Amino acid sequence: MKILRFTGASSTGRPIPTFPVLLVIGLMAVLALPASAAKKIIFDTDPGTDDALALMLALNSPELDVRAITVVPGNVTAAMGLENALHMASLANRCDIPVAAGAQHPLFQKLITAEFWHGKNGLGNIELPPSKCKVDSRFGPDLIIQLVHASPHEITLVPVGPLTNIALAVEKDPSIVPLVKEVILMGGSIAGGNVNAAAEANIYNDPEAAQIVFQAGWPLTMVGLEVGDKAPFTRKYLAELGQSHGPVNDFIVSETFGASGSPMYDPSAVAVAIDATLVKVQEMHVDVETRGEFTRGETVGNRRGGVEHNVLHGDRYVIEGVDPVKPNAKVCVDVDADRLLQLFVSRIRGK
Ligand code: BDR
Ligand code: CA
Repeated sequence: MKILRFTGASSTGRPIPTFPVLLVIGLMAVLALPASAAKKIIFDTDPGTDDALALMLALNSPELDVRAITVVPGNVTAAMGLENALHMASLANRCDIPVAAGAQHPLFQKLITAEFWHGKNGLGNIELPPSKCKVDSRFGPDLIIQLVHASPHEITLVPVGPLTNIALAVEKDPSIVPLVKEVILMGGSIAGGNVNAAAEANIYNDPEAAQIVFQAGWPLTMVGLEVGDKAPFTRKYLAELGQSHGPVNDFIVSETFGASGSPMYDPSAVAVAIDATLVKVQEMHVDVETRGEFTRGETVGNRRGGVEHNVLHGDRYVIEGVDPVKPNAKVCVDVDADRLLQLFVSRIRGK
């Protein structure tokens, strides 16, 4: 497989044009089989180049046992995402993992696709051989519900796209909430967005779904821009990847490869599922803004843990105290970026 040209991506933009080179290397390196003691995960994805890398990381890590891949529209349409997910499973030789289609559009808004960042086919325009894997006939949210009931308290949900499928599963069967082990999602930010000043893409693409997921009441870790932006995949790591993969010259990296690298958004969530010590978390209550004129899709984290309590006294309110707010999320506020990137490199190298 030959990649002819890559363009750069800044560490503050959405991922991508640099990713095809990683993607191809990653595809060649899916070696590990899930161990029985591994953490069972459902990977919900809108593939998406960094989604593909995240999946390769998951499939290459013995700590994780990918029980299903459910597809959500986001970076690309639902149909293209499904096709891409089947390609990824096929290239990884993992047709044993069910790949299911899910929602066709966000809950209450039109779909916004991101070919601008991920290439026309969502996979950096890399042409992949026809998939050997077949689509599972179950509806993604139903499959999530079924698998959670089949393995109560054992399933970790790892959504790395808009949260539509997860929200649909919760709405259809709220009894899954206490049965899910935890949710480790890529999305959000407590310090500005990558779509606009306020919102991160996965949350912006379905804010109502995100609000349902954040308020559901399950253990939830938000791996947002605070992680991905601090963990750019630079030439240094690319070179390390290439070292053990022989035909690096299969991959021609253009001079325009961004010096600052590409943020590893979706692989970060998988990395945290593998090793939670990679990140520093702060517990807080997070709400998703669904109405703001400038802030729709923002994840609003209450960093002080309280809200002033105002009581009406005649014609004015008087602050009488501060009501505590219960945290609903562990928000990743910092990351050991080098360790995360080394984990990615070593797993893709099969070590
Ligand atoms: C998120 O947006 C998508 O484009 C990426 O796949 C990632 O999930 C980053 O904001
Ligand atoms: Ca994604």
